[in-house]
Amino acid sequence: IMFSNGETWWQQRHFGRAILQKLVIEQKDLEHQIGEEGRQLVEAFANEKGEPMDPTWHILHSVSKMICAAAFGHPFPIEDEALHTLTKHINTLVKFGGSVGAVLYNIAPTIMRYLPGPHQTAISSCEFIRSFVRKEVENHKNNGPPHERRGFIDYYLAHMKTEKTDSTSTFDDANLVQSVTDFFVTGTDAIAATLSWALLFMVAHPDIQAKVQDELDNGLESFKVVCYADRKQLPYTRAVLNEVQRLSNIKLFGLFKLCTENVNILGTLIPKDTLVITDLCSVLLDATKWETPEKFNPNHFLDNDGKFIIRDEFIPFSAGDRSCVGKPFARTQLFIFFANLLKAFTFRQPEGVEGVNTEPVIGAIVYPQPYKICAVPR
Ligand code: HEM
Repeated sequence: IMFSNGETWWQQRHFGRAILQKLVIEQKDLEHQIGEEGRQLVEAFANEKGEPMDPTWHILHSVSKMICAAAFGHPFPIEDEALHTLTKHINTLVKFGGSVGAVLYNIAPTIMRYLPGPHQTAISSCEFIRSFVRKEVENHKNNGPPHERRGFIDYYLAHMKTEKTDSTSTFDDANLVQSVTDFFVTGTDAIAATLSWALLFMVAHPDIQAKVQDELDNGLESFKVVCYADRKQLPYTRAVLNEVQRLSNIKLFGLFKLCTENVNILGTLIPKDTLVITDLCSVLLDATKWETPEKFNPNHFLDNDGKFIIRDEFIPFSAGDRSCVGKPFARTQLFIFFANLLKAFTFRQPEGVEGVNTEPVIGAIVYPQPYKICAVPR
């Protein structure tokens, strides 16, 4: 989906988007799994007993588990160790994607392929992820159609069968493996980085953290695992999460696009075949649209009565035909994980650490600088 064009892109994108949406919105199964994983994430943090820890790995683990759940179906079929290895390879590939090495590799891939360097590790990671997915596809084929719960692979295999006689169909094993690989590579670190920023912003703004916790305490029953439908009672929590996405802006640019015909946008001619790179910061930090563009301010998403408002300028998932395929899935995970963590813990700096470093590490996905925090049970 990500790096294709034309008919292949159109078919794979529309199918991928429809199935991810169906899994998370229409079939409540996946949402329940995310809730259960939210509970396990809380448990993993609790095991750290309030000591200083880097939360990123716990979060990455939970997110890639949920992408496995969406792709492979249920019950969850993967051992912890295999999941760790998979997550490590995804993370390696994403980190490489934003490096100088990736630029060099993309300039001369045929030559670079024979030279040593970090790109060789990235190529191995990419191969690992693909062969991991390939094995799952084989398992699904060998086990036949599922009787009840389904994941993306099951839907795709069923669709391949119905399209078997259509010569224009692009549904085949290779595109199935690549679609799932796209989900892992583009989705895992994007959600994990956003949640890492969310916890860091909460440490930097204890007053805002306390307001989120007040809302969670007053708006919901005390022992309830927060689910996505609860967001309607939690406008402040929603506003905080949107503000995290706006200010952290974890994908600085949209994917590269090529202009297919001459177009005139606000008086500027963009000729056919121009390479277009959308600068998401120019909208997310636009000083003419946001009251305090560079400052963390949840009021950007609240009206005077404290009601949640939707803003057209809020485009962390980009906009248009090529916008993020995983948006509903990502938003459900972000909300459930964030709300359950804030309900269970107060996040603060380790003893003796002064100031919070909110400088970003620029890359394909923008993470905060590595940090440690304490998750103090409430
Ligand atoms: C916080 C989480 C996420 C953010 C902020 C995000 C953001 C984005 C952005 C900015 C793009 C580029 C769109 C463009 O070029 O116009 C994109 C594309 C994409 N995203 Fe996401 N994403 C997230 C999570 C996910 C997840 C969880 C999945 C799938 C499981 C996913 C799947 C994709 C795919 C397949 C594309 C390529 C779409 C295409 O080329 O047509 N994303 N995403």
